[in-house]
Amino acid sequence: KKVVILISGRGSNMEAIVHTARREAWDVEVAAVISNRPEAAGLAFAKAQGISTVALDHKAYPTREAFDAALMDAIDAHAPDAVVLAGFMRILTPGFTEHYAGRLLNIHPSLLPAFPGLHTHRRALEAGCQLAGATVHLVTAELDHGPILAQAMVPVLAGDDEARLAQRVLSLEHQMYPRALAWFLAGELRQEGGRMQHRDGAA
Ligand code: GRF
Repeated sequence: KKVVILISGRGSNMEAIVHTARREAWDVEVAAVISNRPEAAGLAFAKAQGISTVALDHKAYPTREAFDAALMDAIDAHAPDAVVLAGFMRILTPGFTEHYAGRLLNIHPSLLPAFPGLHTHRRALEAGCQLAGATVHLVTAELDHGPILAQAMVPVLAGDDEARLAQRVLSLEHQMYPRALAWFLAGELRQEGGRMQHRDGAA
């Protein structure tokens, strides 16, 4: 199987996927890492791993449609089984999400459907949530709303600020995104009563 990973910055989730795939000897190739920001730190890591990288600066394109068309060309050159959004901070056009329907994954740092969009940790703290977490979901045209593939939680602790909570959730993301992706690629997630479930009930 082949995956292409899209990033915009740090790329720590991409790193976790690359490391986990190697450690667990997955039969999966990370065919390319693509960033819409040429200066994204994650590109250097990917290059150092011998992964092919592409920097596609969205500012060089007149419209969202033109950027997404170029992005689709760059992705489709690798014919991936899954396209993995890992901190990719661009809103995608319906044309893009339809093109990759059913094989486009994202991780969002909240327990969706709570807190779609930005500043999830600040909003969770302001709401007085006692649990936080992250969600891996299939991407549809509506931002942060596609079918949920996996979710995991961490507690909100006394004295948490945005940074401390974000760090706890990020560590969780690094565990769960590789796992959810592996299940997805192995066909181990199935739809049941409108929900995605691991076939052994492990999710
Ligand atoms: C993660 O918290 C992810 O959930 C969100 O953006 C952050 C990306 O971090 N979508 P990184 O680039 O993977 O380090």
